[in-house]
Amino acid sequence: MDQEKILVIDFGGQYNQLVARRVRECNVYCEIYSYKTPLEKIKEMNPKGIILTGGPNSCYAEGAPTCGKELFELGVPVLGLCYGAQLMMHVLGGEVKRPEVGEYGKTNVLITGATSKDELFEGVPWETICWMSHFDRIEKLADGFETIAHTADCPVAAAQNKSKNLYAIQFHPEVLHTEYGVEMLYNYVRKICKCSGTWRMDSFVEESIKAIRDKVGDGKVLLALSGGVDSSVAAGLLSRAIGKQLTCVFVDHGLLRKNEGDEVESVFGEGGQFDLNFIRVNAQQRYYDKLAGVTEPERKRKIIGEEFIRVFEEEAKKIGAVDFLAQGTIYPDVVESGLGGESAVIKSHHNVGGLPDFVDFKEIIEPLRDLFKDEVRKAGLELGIPENLVFRQPFPGPGLGIRIIGEVTAEKVAIVQDADFIYREEVDAEIARYKEQNGKDPKWKPDQYFAALTNMRSVGVMGDERTYDYAVAVRAVKTVDFMTAESAEIPFEVLQRVMSRIINEVKGVNRVLFDLTSKPPGTIEME
Ligand code: XMP
Repeated sequence: MDQEKILVIDFGGQYNQLVARRVRECNVYCEIYSYKTPLEKIKEMNPKGIILTGGPNSCYAEGAPTCGKELFELGVPVLGLCYGAQLMMHVLGGEVKRPEVGEYGKTNVLITGATSKDELFEGVPWETICWMSHFDRIEKLADGFETIAHTADCPVAAAQNKSKNLYAIQFHPEVLHTEYGVEMLYNYVRKICKCSGTWRMDSFVEESIKAIRDKVGDGKVLLALSGGVDSSVAAGLLSRAIGKQLTCVFVDHGLLRKNEGDEVESVFGEGGQFDLNFIRVNAQQRYYDKLAGVTEPERKRKIIGEEFIRVFEEEAKKIGAVDFLAQGTIYPDVVESGLGGESAVIKSHHNVGGLPDFVDFKEIIEPLRDLFKDEVRKAGLELGIPENLVFRQPFPGPGLGIRIIGEVTAEKVAIVQDADFIYREEVDAEIARYKEQNGKDPKWKPDQYFAALTNMRSVGVMGDERTYDYAVAVRAVKTVDFMTAESAEIPFEVLQRVMSRIINEVKGVNRVLFDLTSKPPGTIEME
């Protein structure tokens, strides 16, 4: 798509995707590229601005990631953040050194504009809290630069060379702890780079529909629909573009949450709001048979993944050759697979991995490849996909298979489905109640919460009778990136309600435990 574009040049810092997301929140499209990207390619992309990210190195160290002087001579505004700021000075002849003390965390920054606040800091108070995370610092400015902010420990918290449109910021405006960070980035992309802000989800949807029609023509498209946010939005978008030329195969592996299969069918199946061919494969028993007697978590994952490919392959054979295989790949998948940025955390995306080998198709189509998750959700709402689907919490591909410790059976699936349904219902009701009273979400609102079935049975007493039943564990975590997590402080009375309802309403359960473990040392899922 022909968009005005900001390039985020990645030097391996931990907030790089965040920088790109903040720029997009200013309605400006941006992409992340490695610092190794050749200058020629950067020129070809014709960016309206370039942002150099943070990174873990010292810019003066041998072999440290760097860039040529020419990057600063393109006539395009450049903003360096943290490492990017230091590198800018280093490359242009300034000096970067490691002092006795570094700075970490929320720091008071004083803006030192001579007469008025410059464009970059327009609307920002003279004194403001910013997020610092550095040891090295700029000791001497390169020619043509002036200091525009400092802190108690850092003489150059920000600097600019206005005539060349070069800006260096030592702190992290992309992190929400920087109180006016959003304003600073907005000033940079909208005022300094003069981007008009045309990146919006309604126009994305319109333009994608056109682009899909152009690409697909009268071809046939096949999509594996999991019912997750990404594949659902991809299905919605493709359906709006090409209607019945799209076939979605939805495999119900019997490890979905309660009612989930029917909910997906009601949106995408016959009588739903989308025009497409919807095939639901009820493969529950096949999965239970394969999983019988298997207790080892990794083997369970493997069996569930392989069986998905078998089922999908059978359906694809019935459909015959298609022109395109659609996938719900989103931008973080692209960056994390090492195709985009530098700070690659390689994850295996087993939900789609392996499919291309089993389907007779000519090309892959990935309509959400440019979008961050929050943008995928906005696009989903634009397309009229129901909110409960668009704002679904993450759910693992192997589903309840990894929320049942030990062997998976139909009976255990039913227990965990019912317990999980009650738990989510009570937590959601409490969140809604809090929001109604206070106008905002409670602090403890978890990012992921679910019930799991432990493999433990213990003695209990119900109505004067001895029981020997399962223990359900409920879990709730707060997390930003799902790489680390803390237990969420669900109010005790909510947990008590959950406990009493699960024990009264779910047969086979006589104990409810709350999993307090953070990640690390635990993981979010229990298997
Ligand atoms: P863990 O358990 O690794 O979970 O702390 C982190 C996030 O990833 C999800 N998860 C999975 N997702 N296939 C998936 O598609 C899996 O095998 C899998 N295991 C964990 C988990 O729900 C959490 O959001």
